[in-house]
Amino acid sequence: MSLDLTETTITETVQKTFDKAKDERIREIFVSLVQHLHDFTREVRLTDEEWFTAVDFLERVGKISSPTRQEFVLLSDILGLSVLVDQINHHHGSSATDSTLLGPFYVEGRPTAQNGADISGGVGGMPMFFSGTVLDTDGTPVAGAHVDTWHSDGDGFYDVQQADKLDHKLAMRALLITDDNGRFWYRSITPRCYPVPTDGPCGEILRAAHRSPTRPEHIHFWFHAEGHEPLITTLFRGGDPYLDSDAVFGAKRSLVADFVQHDAGDTAPDGTVMTEPFQTVKWTFILTGK
Ligand code: BEZ
Ligand code: FE
Repeated sequence: MSLDLTETTITETVQKTFDKAKDERIREIFVSLVQHLHDFTREVRLTDEEWFTAVDFLERVGKISSPTRQEFVLLSDILGLSVLVDQINHHHGSSATDSTLLGPFYVEGRPTAQNGADISGGVGGMPMFFSGTVLDTDGTPVAGAHVDTWHSDGDGFYDVQQADKLDHKLAMRALLITDDNGRFWYRSITPRCYPVPTDGPCGEILRAAHRSPTRPEHIHFWFHAEGHEPLITTLFRGGDPYLDSDAVFGAKRSLVADFVQHDAGDTAPDGTVMTEPFQTVKWTFILTGK
């Protein structure tokens, strides 16, 4: 190792320290990471003060993180890294439904529900009736698919963000199973657009850039079916004013759905004559075979 390192020779010197890594992929990733990190540092002529600020920022991202507060994931999300990784690794542009971000509000141990059930968990709001069909790329219905769904309430809050108010009960989420025709359906309440958490270090970046923290109104889905690739996706409400400024870049044209508004007195998909306005949403999801 040279004792006469310069601004340029430091890069190769550090890269060489990975030469003996047994795992070739680890070597490849670190050599490239060092190259880009050093090039970036040279390009912006990073000052001492800026380096300290960056290290302090990352430390604070770590300190605020917990099992229910994933600030590193949020950092990846607001920098577009999460969506980039998803774009690289999933079959975009095929006939299968596009995938998008998982987000931090998926919860293990969610309740299972029968098709047709009300999954709102008693949280008040405008009724919403969701009806989905799951097909293979050749149009065959996928029976027995596991469908996780979760969404916010009408104020833009998930159950886990109001655990005390809800007595720690999970709501507005469920695991459903598709029937023989690949169908699943449930009743819940309409979600609403909401801001990603801005009370931590990521909020500082959004404010510094005068960026909107808002995600357009959406419903999350995660499909698992025998013989098919898992699919993590989200449907966004057509007409939402935040569709083209999603704080985490997850909204896609191919995932924009009609959230159809109905009046009181109209009949809901389950045959109930509704005494209040409600919405219906229908979508066909296409899974890729393994
Ligand atoms: C969400 O849609 O649940 C979400 C995704 C990324 C960051 C914050 C929230
Ligand atoms: Fe969400």
